[in-house]
Amino acid sequence: MYLTRLLYVSDYNRDRPFNAAQMLKSAIAKNRANQITGALWFDGRQFIQVLEGGRHAVSETYHRIAHDERHNNIELVSCNSVTERFFPQWSMGYFGDTLTNQQTILRYSTSDKLIPNEMSPDSLLGLMMTLELKNLE
Ligand SMILES: Cc1cc2nc3c(=O)[nH]c(=O)nc-3n(C[C@H](O)[C@H](O)[C@H](O)COP(=O)(O)O)c2cc1C
Repeated sequence: MYLTRLLYVSDYNRDRPFNAAQMLKSAIAKNRANQITGALWFDGRQFIQVLEGGRHAVSETYHRIAHDERHNNIELVSCNSVTERFFPQWSMGYFGDTLTNQQTILRYSTSDKLIPNEMSPDSLLGLMMTLELKNLE
């Protein structure tokens, strides 16, 4: 069961209600049972999510998420076998955009506007890891 990391971006489907706290409660319980870790970023318009865990568990979780009607235009950015988890302490860490500052965005983007679809897999992952460190401070 190889350790795998998957990264996707999507648009929030405004026709469906989204309550972050409620969704996270059930996602965290499921992820814990599946030994999935990761992080979710949401600015009210778009999602960026990292899922890490066994290949089967990550694949099954991603397919469930991809069928969720709260997403539009879900885009698989990357899915790789990896040697270690980057978010071992988070069954699903969450970042609202209040934790995203211009300087952090500029570090990983060509401008200080965060446009997930125009960022490379490495830049997106770097951004998520920087946000995680901020969250731990
Ligand atoms: C932005 C977003 C992120 C989600 N992340 C996860 C997740 O990390 N793990 C998970 O099990 N479900 C996650 N979900 C929920 C799934 O999409 C889906 O609603 C849920 O797993 C359905 O479970 P059920 O088929 O048992 O009702 C997420 C949903 C959204 C909208």
